[in-house]
Amino acid sequence: MDTAKIGIINVSDRASRGEYEDIPGKEVKRLLNLWLTSPWEAEYAVIPDEQDLLEKAMIEMADIHSCCLIVTTGGTGPAVRDVTPEATEAVCEKMMPGFGEQMRQVSLQYVPTAILSRQTAGIRGKSLIVNLPGKPKAIQECLEAVFPAIPYCIDLIE
Ligand code: MTE
Repeated sequence: MDTAKIGIINVSDRASRGEYEDIPGKEVKRLLNLWLTSPWEAEYAVIPDEQDLLEKAMIEMADIHSCCLIVTTGGTGPAVRDVTPEATEAVCEKMMPGFGEQMRQVSLQYVPTAILSRQTAGIRGKSLIVNLPGKPKAIQECLEAVFPAIPYCIDLIE
């Protein structure tokens, strides 16, 4: 069986400057290791909240590294520098709004501020791109909420 490649992009100005380690990336890896049953390997990137750099990283992971799944963390809120959903929309041919809807709905059971995340998902070629908020607790709550649909979606776009 081929080893699947999964892109994990931590979108954060401070992490990209080396001011803190890539905790969100490690959390995504930990969860995928718990839930995925087939072999996979990670392609990591830590990118500042700059739309052009983020688009470039997503395109590289989809088109060059052939990642079947690309998970972003952070940059989904209302702040001026939060541009992850815009970058996702710019590189995707098809948006999958159900992912964001489901993640917000489930997250509202934990925090009323869940509505502040504009997280979304979309398809670029054979890659599914899913946005998560940046806090480790939010990463688990959101990824768990949509995880059952992810392998099925990847099968459909193969
Ligand atoms: N979703 C869950 N499940 N848990 C959380 O703690 N935090 C919210 C929201 N979604 C949160 C959540 C907050 S406070 C913000 S500002 C937005 O996600 C955006 O987070 P981001 O800028 O790290 O992407």
